[in-house]
Amino acid sequence: MSWKQRINKYLSTQRLTDKWRNRCIIDKSSTRLLRKGKKFYIDFSSNDYLGLNHHPVIIESWNTGMSLAGVGAGSSSHMTGFSSFHADLEMQLAEWLGYPRALLFISGFDANQAAISLLGKKNDYIIADKLIHASLIDAVINSPAKLYRFNHNKIESLIFYLNRYCNGEKLILTEGVFSMDGDKAPLKNIYNQVQKSNGWLLVDDAHGIGIIGDEGRGSCWSAGIKPELLIISFSKAFGISGGALLCEDDIADYFLQFSKHLIYSTFMPPAQAFALQTSLNLVKGAEYLRYRLNENIKYFQLGIKSTSWKLIESNTAIQPLIIGNNDDAKVLAIKLAHAGCWVNVIKPPTVLVGTTRIRITLSAIHKFEDIDILLEALYDANR
Ligand SMILES: Cc1ncc(COP(=O)(O)O)c(C=O)c1O
Repeated sequence: MSWKQRINKYLSTQRLTDKWRNRCIIDKSSTRLLRKGKKFYIDFSSNDYLGLNHHPVIIESWNTGMSLAGVGAGSSSHMTGFSSFHADLEMQLAEWLGYPRALLFISGFDANQAAISLLGKKNDYIIADKLIHASLIDAVINSPAKLYRFNHNKIESLIFYLNRYCNGEKLILTEGVFSMDGDKAPLKNIYNQVQKSNGWLLVDDAHGIGIIGDEGRGSCWSAGIKPELLIISFSKAFGISGGALLCEDDIADYFLQFSKHLIYSTFMPPAQAFALQTSLNLVKGAEYLRYRLNENIKYFQLGIKSTSWKLIESNTAIQPLIIGNNDDAKVLAIKLAHAGCWVNVIKPPTVLVGTTRIRITLSAIHKFEDIDILLEALYDANR
């Protein structure tokens, strides 16, 4: 089969199986609203949970960072791409989260890929929650380690795999807040079991950092655990992008020596690291925004009770409505769009077959009136 034939075969399967993914041009003139064409929508699809994306102080510090250090890092952090802005941010992150070291990555996706590609060796077991993010699973599939998947958030299932004889090391993967379901992992329990079996735990807290716990220190802090590897992303509550790994000194040194993701890739622009320091300071002091977010979550959950829609159990900003099949979900998303609400339809393979959903995300900057519009649209859609 030629390249062309192979590509066409994949594309037609993608169309036939209703997995086609589209991009559309969106203008985000504020965090609360987005514009597509001439129409404005209330944005219920973003991960900008604290509404920092357009924060004037962050924008100003990105500008200051650019005027001081230019627009790009120019090379990898092992060449000349590592600046005092990066070093300061790494130090501040480590201090904030109580780890000896933090290492920056260009994205949370990259940090996850780097972690798995460096740690998963032959004879090792990687034991992952069934709903773990694609950035981790994808890396495990390409690693020589053996993958086992435990039932979502089920400790007995985890224990079952932890008890299997393993000739190498065991790395356990979970998320603090699950990206498509919004529920939280029983981290304390998982951590205790992993410790008992002498494994290591990696927690991806992309959706918990900045939101959960004292000063937004995230799911692990709030559960009182310190996993060997904590991955965070700056693309959600921080309103920007980038990722970081928090760990002990020798693990950080191991990554710096051997991670191709760090050695062979141009580093995060220094101006971004400068802006991230500002974002970090805002996140730490964002008690009011976290309070507003929680009020919005409660308001939405209370309102949905007066409709016939059922939410899955989540007390985070991610509030999914499981629809089941793709067509029904698309129809609902269109109805919501007509009412001025923008939501994302999440289809398999991103989620399990039969669980196509509308992933509603709430932000601190939504007003109760915005949520009323969404609730009314949902109510009307099901009449
Ligand atoms: C759980 C989880 N981990 C990692 C990532 C990737 O993070 P980033 O956007 O920083 O690449 C995402 C992205 O949505 C995510 O949901």
